[in-house]
Amino acid sequence: MTTSEAILQVLSGSLLSRSHHSNIFTENLNSVHALRVHVNNTRKRKAVNMQVHGCSGMLQNCRRVYALHCRNGVFCRKNDVNRLESMGCNCQRAEIVSGSTAEDPNETWFTGEANTSSSVPVNGTSSASGMEEFELGQQSKDEKGDLVTNGMSTAAGTVKDSSDECGEKLIEDEAWNLLRDSIVYYCNIPIGTIAANDSTSPSILNYDQIFIRDFIPSGVAFLLKGEYDIVRNFILYTLQLQSWEKTMDCYSPGQGLMPASFKVRTVPLDGDDFATEEILDPDFGEAAIGRVAPVDSGLWWIILLRAYGKCSGDLSVQERVDVQTGMKMILKLCLSDGFDMFPTLLVTDGSCMIDRRMGIHGHPLEIQALFYSALLCAREMLAPEEGSADLLRALNHRLIALSFHIRQYYWIDLRKLNVIYRYRTEEYSYDAVNKFNIYPEQIPSWLVEFLPNKGGYLIGNLQPAHMDFRFFSLGNLWSIVSSLATSDQSHAILDLIEARWALLVAEMPFKICYPALEGAEWKIITGYDPKNTPWSYHNGGSWPTLLLQLTVACIKMKRSEIAQKAVKVAERRISGDKWPEYYDTKRARLIGKQARLYQTWSIAGYLSAKLLLANPSAANILINEEDPELVNALSYITIDNPRRKRGLKRQSFIV
Ligand code: GLC
Repeated sequence: MTTSEAILQVLSGSLLSRSHHSNIFTENLNSVHALRVHVNNTRKRKAVNMQVHGCSGMLQNCRRVYALHCRNGVFCRKNDVNRLESMGCNCQRAEIVSGSTAEDPNETWFTGEANTSSSVPVNGTSSASGMEEFELGQQSKDEKGDLVTNGMSTAAGTVKDSSDECGEKLIEDEAWNLLRDSIVYYCNIPIGTIAANDSTSPSILNYDQIFIRDFIPSGVAFLLKGEYDIVRNFILYTLQLQSWEKTMDCYSPGQGLMPASFKVRTVPLDGDDFATEEILDPDFGEAAIGRVAPVDSGLWWIILLRAYGKCSGDLSVQERVDVQTGMKMILKLCLSDGFDMFPTLLVTDGSCMIDRRMGIHGHPLEIQALFYSALLCAREMLAPEEGSADLLRALNHRLIALSFHIRQYYWIDLRKLNVIYRYRTEEYSYDAVNKFNIYPEQIPSWLVEFLPNKGGYLIGNLQPAHMDFRFFSLGNLWSIVSSLATSDQSHAILDLIEARWALLVAEMPFKICYPALEGAEWKIITGYDPKNTPWSYHNGGSWPTLLLQLTVACIKMKRSEIAQKAVKVAERRISGDKWPEYYDTKRARLIGKQARLYQTWSIAGYLSAKLLLANPSAANILINEEDPELVNALSYITIDNPRRKRGLKRQSFIV
């Protein structure tokens, strides 16, 4: 028996039988087409159903879903009517929104009042002004380099003294108001949150859309608050978008791709001058700046699906046939064979939160951490059935190979740096030490200073002959959350964060990556991108939304005090600065040059961090604990025995 067979046997018993769902899964997209026909026919009767409760309409050949109204009361309820009501169905005619069709007598149609205002501005600051603002104050630094503010401002904008509980409460209340104001409605159903609500910004670009990744902190905040509907709707409606026809010129990306973002548009109803309808308009990257493919969207979708089930206790969503199919489509896309030599997911530039050309193409850590986490989440949720056995085997195989690869080859600390520093190169053999032929000359000078005596991290990227030694926050934090990093490595990452607090946090958590690309490197890698100048935006800017990931990672390692401290730092400025998207400069002293204000995931990142710190056990909805069977399997791959390791060779699975 080869090692890989042995490993799979260890795993297969429990993992393949791990299961629980009563659904009989039928992978039958034809029924979906049938529904499509129904949708078209129904539309001719002026009333189109978007059935979210039962089998959903996945439209293979249609650009858009038209929905004039919705059924199943659970989705049509709108808790709070506020100024964003305009995002719901507008201009609906009375006969369209009321009554039920002859074909479906049990249907409960939404009969709420049609909203005649179609463009109430979504940008606003109304609820942001409830707090007293302080003038800029003096600043000094303590000996650790931390800023002492005397409760006053230290940099851009104004600062509120929120050190007391009352101040914190005000900030939280303001954040909740802003988060609720960012809710987007589709047919009066809350389905997500707008990226930014910034009326001061000269260009909206796509910040008026619902981004999948941006919704994660919002979704977590709503879940933790017990407001499950919006998350459920988001999961189900984005699933509808998965099968959209999507092309970049005349080329289409893979079927399981989830959009980066989508927008609710109100358009005139075909053939009727007096009525409008709402459509969901997704962007898979075909309109995105740089035309980048959002690889992270599907992975986040799976992670949120599990979180929804764990938090609400409602497993019926993950058990649905269409949800199971959607999950499988994402997995198939990620697990399909290519030319790769490595178990890491090969992606194009800008496939994740850093959706620009920033040298994160190939095998960036962020995608690997999300991939690993999504595989573990999916494994928990996949209904056991014969048709899934191959998929589950491929998934298990990938989990083992991926964790081995990342733990082994992405890890850097002083000890490992010493090894790399003395690497021999051009080793041709199976048992080469320097497998990727890394020339020690590429070790950057900042690295020796950056690595503390105690601590380490996972590097940003690894390719043949090239290591990207930059520290990428989301990838490192999510490697902790998902147990992609070992427990020792996870602690070491947090040790490094503590030791390099002044570099990674300074005046606003959390630096997206460290250090910034400068000079010729910046020119070549970013393509002279003026938005990504050193220490700005994706090039070493600071992103408050990362408070969520930081908090979950800290809670998992039982080191919540680190996250507490970071939240306190954020609280000094974030509200007074109007919840910017990101901050610039080495110490995050300036509001990002082109940062949107009232950026929803900055607000939600803060809120979800607060909620989790108040109730740490809730973090389990996002955490993947280390799987003992996986550890067991990993122990087969002994570092000293290359022949044995070679036993874990790639297997082909029909997925
Ligand atoms: C920017 C960010 C991206 C985010 C989007 C919407 O493009 O790079 O990560 O999803 O804005 O906020």
